[in-house]
Amino acid sequence: MQNVLIREYKSEDLQQILHEMNGKNSKRRGDKFKLVECSDAFTCFLAEDDSKIRGFVIVEDLGDGVSFYIEQINVTERRTGIGRELIQKVFEFVVEGGHISLCVNTDNDDSIKFFEAMGFQRSGHTEGYRRNQDKYWYEIDL
Ligand SMILES: CC(C)(COP(=O)(O)OP(=O)(O)OC[C@H]1O[C@@H](n2cnc3c(N)ncnc32)[C@H](O)[C@@H]1OP(=O)(O)O)[C@@H](O)C(=O)NCCC(=O)NCCS
Repeated sequence: MQNVLIREYKSEDLQQILHEMNGKNSKRRGDKFKLVECSDAFTCFLAEDDSKIRGFVIVEDLGDGVSFYIEQINVTERRTGIGRELIQKVFEFVVEGGHISLCVNTDNDDSIKFFEAMGFQRSGHTEGYRRNQDKYWYEIDL
């Protein structure tokens, strides 16, 4: 990974995120960014390279001063270290003593391996979270 800048999201980034990144025109992604735009509880960090957005992570502050939830993480090109950079930024943001949780589809092997490599531990399993979609829950204490 070269020259990738990790920075906070700005409203001007929305067009590129929704219409030019992989997974473009995803309604779900659009809904998540409405939360980032409208609520102080949601923070987004971006990976930018040569003015192109290469990835993002959205974190929700659950409001007790300790607990945070990763809503979504996505990169344009996998296995180049951008996911790791984004998660490290989240760790800096949440700071020591914080607790981070997330859920991932049980068939999303790449993400499961990624989160486990980042130090998250499996904490639960929900069958039928949505129709035809089971989830594993992960967490980490910093
Ligand atoms: C999950 C995701 C963000 C990971 O980002 P990434 O940039 O590919 O991950 P990195 O390159 O930083 O990987 C860091 C480490 O995680 C582990 N890892 C990541 N992907 C892996 C895979 N497919 N298999 C095995 N280990 C993996 C490795 O230990 C890797 O380190 P290494 O490459 O030095 O061996 C990416 O796969 C993605 O965008 N997936 C689609 C969206 C998604 O499903 N998001 C999760 C649910 S919100």
